[in-house]
Amino acid sequence: MNTSVVVCIKDRVGAAPSCAQGGGVELANLLERELAPLEVPVKRLLCFGRCNEGPNVRIAPGGAFFTRMDRERVGEVVEAVRAVLAGETPGASSS
Ligand code: FES
Repeated sequence: MNTSVVVCIKDRVGAAPSCAQGGGVELANLLERELAPLEVPVKRLLCFGRCNEGPNVRIAPGGAFFTRMDRERVGEVVEAVRAVLAGETPGASSS
């Protein structure tokens, strides 16, 4: 299993809510730095379809889904990734 972290960076300027408005790009960059030692890639996605709950982050494949993410919660994602890498199964959802 190749674990990765997927971050929505969709930006709908002046329209409906989107993850970039809440800092999705910055979250992706920060997660990339934090996960580099674990050699877990961060992928940018243009919408999970849960825009009103963003910024959204998912551990793939099939891992935890983090809604309303901010910089202070990056550690939660890193810990969840560590759990996946250790062979544990994280919860299906986290918000
Ligand atoms: S804009 Fe991020 S889930 Fe739709």
